[in-house]
Amino acid sequence: MSAAEHGTGHAQHDFFHMINEAADFIKARIVEIPQIGMILGSGLGMLAKRIESPIVIPYAEIPHFPRSTVEGHAGELVIGTLEGRRVIAMNGRFHIYEGYTPQAITFPVRVMKRLGIESLVVTNAAGGINTSYSPGDLMIISDHLNMQFRHPLIGPNDDSFGVRFPDMSAAYSPRLRAIAKQVAAAQSLGIQEGVYVGLTGPSYETPAEIRMFRTLGADAVGMSTVAEVLIARHAGIEVLGISCISNMAAGILPQPLSHLEVMETTERVKDSFAKLVLGILPHM
Ligand code: HPA
Repeated sequence: MSAAEHGTGHAQHDFFHMINEAADFIKARIVEIPQIGMILGSGLGMLAKRIESPIVIPYAEIPHFPRSTVEGHAGELVIGTLEGRRVIAMNGRFHIYEGYTPQAITFPVRVMKRLGIESLVVTNAAGGINTSYSPGDLMIISDHLNMQFRHPLIGPNDDSFGVRFPDMSAAYSPRLRAIAKQVAAAQSLGIQEGVYVGLTGPSYETPAEIRMFRTLGADAVGMSTVAEVLIARHAGIEVLGISCISNMAAGILPQPLSHLEVMETTERVKDSFAKLVLGILPHM
């Protein structure tokens, strides 16, 4: 079955069975149980290369796993040790604009839960809506707005993951956000903290939409993360989210937006971004 079909037209028990099959496949290839999951977004793929004693599993080899199609996003799981913590990193993630369902996008998070992770670090590139931000800033995500108008938990609930109506009042762990701020301060790294609004893309927003999202309380905008975080919180996983402000959102600066600018900025700040994440891991 193709991953794009996840959650569509198949009995839900098949879907949960697929999660277990993927987890069993990975379990047979690893020695230790991972503690921390990592979803490495645009620009942070290099962190995967820092993982020690890595076991690398291309998504294409894992039963039922979706595959990523975007430039700048690889497609492999890297399992090993980073800063003394046992991690499982997704080098490359999936997006709704690629045509995947929210269930497919979040399939790996549930697989990581089955493998034993207790916390999850999610990174992404985002456009700055808050006009006090600058391209290259890092932003700890304090909360999100789900403007994808779809939800990965729609459908029968699997009680073995979590409850039917999960609480989202502290989706982005206050404990981990405090640690992230302390580590940034110790590294003399200026850091922002704000609300991420998740859209489907793939177009960038219009200036009118950006004004609307600012009015609604958003500080940064992107095309990922919210679905993964909803699934992680449903399963009781503690979440830390960090955005790299890769550009100012539409209508703030005179120039048009481009994926090139996003990639150039993430490339420029990847070392301080990686250093921050590495500094946080031992305290998680
Ligand atoms: N909008 C949406 N997604 C993004 C942006 C943006 O400006 N920059 C990086 N991802």
